[in-house]
Amino acid sequence: MPESRRASAIHTPPPGAPHARALLGHALLDADFLRDPYPTYRVLREAEPLVWSDEFFGGAWLMSRHADVEMVLRDTRFSAQRAGGWVMRTEESRTELRGFQRLFARAMIFLDAPDHTRVRQVLATGFRPSDLQRLTPRIERAVAERLDAADPARIFDFVAALARPLPAQVIGMLMGLDDEPSDFVAWSDELAVFIGAADPSQAQALRAQAALLAMARYFESLLARRRAALDRGGDARDDVIERLVQAERSGAIHGSAELMAQCVMLLFAGHETTRHLLANGLRLLLAHPDAWHSLRRDPALLPGAVRELLRYDCPVQYTGRRVVTDLELHGQSLRRGDLVVALIGAANRDPARHERPDELDIERRAGAPLAFGLGPHACIGAALTLMEAQTVFAQVIGRWPDLALVPPSAAAWTGNPLYRGVTELHLQPATLLAGQPRSAPTLPPRFTEAHPETACKP
Ligand code: HEM
Repeated sequence: MPESRRASAIHTPPPGAPHARALLGHALLDADFLRDPYPTYRVLREAEPLVWSDEFFGGAWLMSRHADVEMVLRDTRFSAQRAGGWVMRTEESRTELRGFQRLFARAMIFLDAPDHTRVRQVLATGFRPSDLQRLTPRIERAVAERLDAADPARIFDFVAALARPLPAQVIGMLMGLDDEPSDFVAWSDELAVFIGAADPSQAQALRAQAALLAMARYFESLLARRRAALDRGGDARDDVIERLVQAERSGAIHGSAELMAQCVMLLFAGHETTRHLLANGLRLLLAHPDAWHSLRRDPALLPGAVRELLRYDCPVQYTGRRVVTDLELHGQSLRRGDLVVALIGAANRDPARHERPDELDIERRAGAPLAFGLGPHACIGAALTLMEAQTVFAQVIGRWPDLALVPPSAAAWTGNPLYRGVTELHLQPATLLAGQPRSAPTLPPRFTEAHPETACKP
């Protein structure tokens, strides 16, 4: 099958809609955009609140202003049920990608109320502050072990050493996976390529399907073991998998397909995102020496610094919603079924919301970023992510205060318009004293605090 064949159908542009390509004078998703989307976002934000682009999923409305992105994430006229549009566009893909659709569309992130509310209530019991507190020492140990493994006398790739493997390991801890399969990260990568493509090819969809089904086979055997352990009345494990199995038994989760969908979703939702916060976040701190030195002096600035990194260059650049009924917005007619792409990355740099939006200011006080979304689908893993990132940055700064980027300004971008981040980050620990790592600074007491709207909220 030719790679170029698209999995998407082409939607006719609505009459009178301003087109992104015409506004910009060139294609939106070009190499410059993938390296640095912010100048393009500025043009869109200043020109029109709603523009049509045929480069996203065969045709979609783009929203770039903070107020609009915030509105669309909360407003029930916009549905989260959009998975079908990715995979079921042609008769052929309907047949070839049936397995994918069966699993994917049941994941909470693609559900509306009341199903969404029901599933979220179950999953939220696995993300309580007490669960995170229990995980904290294990995460600190895992970070320390990964940093110990890097030879401080040599340049090393932070992505390979820590940012890529750690998030999957942490999600494994949270879910209660006994053995983390070696293919975990590779499966997640295949899914990210597909989910993050603005217009995925059928070949990308098929590779993502293979990865998703492999994940499902892994979870099938794990779930069989965990169900049997519960039947035997074994010790309560009190992890996400156990809560899901119990919810399946009580009827709160509707059957094994729905249960499985949540398991695979947790992996892909939490892995690629956190990886980019860790690697791109560290790159940004090192590229802004004032920020780095402030954090060296005062680790209590870390929670605010992580929030600012998430605002300044967020790992999830957009999300999508489908229009539920025909409606008028900003003088445009949106039709039922139209896709709206809410550009979170653009909203986070909107001067109407953030002063000096293009400056990285780790002591910024105002407004939480939209990086974790808002409303009913706000990221369930936000508090876990903040804790993980603060743990990593605190340990890195404590060990290697003179850490340097190699070469100072180079960054290898993923080239994925959704998941923004770097594929490698070469670092020189520099002036470590003869194998004597400095101790990590004590984390400030607020370090597991999340945005009040997003923290562990059902
Ligand atoms: C830097 C890290 C992360 C970022 C930037 C991020 C971003 C987001 C965003 C923007 C949404 C909203 C999507 C929408 O409204 O369509 C979301 C939802 C979600 N995230 Fe995260 N996320 C991160 C880490 C995690 C982690 C570590 C997990 C799990 C362990 C996770 C699990 C989820 C889930 C399950 C949802 C769907 C919530 C729902 O539909 O109710 N995320 N995330």
